[in-house]
Amino acid sequence: MPRLSQWFIRAAFIYLLLGFTIGALLLTHKGLPLHPALWSWLPTHIEFLLFGWVVQVTMGMAFWILPRYWQKPRRPKEGYTQIAFILLNLGIWLVVAGTTFRAGQWFLLAGRATEVSAVVLFALHARKRIVSREGA
Ligand code: HEM
Repeated sequence: MPRLSQWFIRAAFIYLLLGFTIGALLLTHKGLPLHPALWSWLPTHIEFLLFGWVVQVTMGMAFWILPRYWQKPRRPKEGYTQIAFILLNLGIWLVVAGTTFRAGQWFLLAGRATEVSAVVLFALHARKRIVSREGA
């Protein structure tokens, strides 16, 4: 498995663990009130499990399994995927700061814009690797 896929997948499992833990606390809180501030962690629960787990593990697996054509002109720009990894994780924490930690609307918007840029950069990388056996 390529090193970059290991980064994505390891990070995704950390978010899965954190997201499930918050989810379990929220579920417990519904039956046995723990602390009223717990509900402010619902956006983080959703962010960790949708972007931190689902999107990130998908990127990690796609980077590993998509056809590998390293010959020019189809040589995919691996750098795009490295930047996408950084942007995706930066975006997740900007959204968490803007929601659970109430840092403000601009953090939330910046986080969403950063996450979208990560997906676009990954798509630009993957686009060159999505080829059929006929090479088209
Ligand atoms: C990949 C797995 C998961 C995803 C993508 C996910 C996503 C979500 C989403 C989108 C919501 C908001 C639903 C709404 O507003 O109607 C939510 C709420 C919630 N989730 Fe999860 N979740 C996941 C796993 C879990 C797990 C494992 C637990 C508990 C152990 C959990 C506990 C909760 C609770 C307690 C709520 C609040 C429900 C309420 O509003 O009453 N979630 N989750």
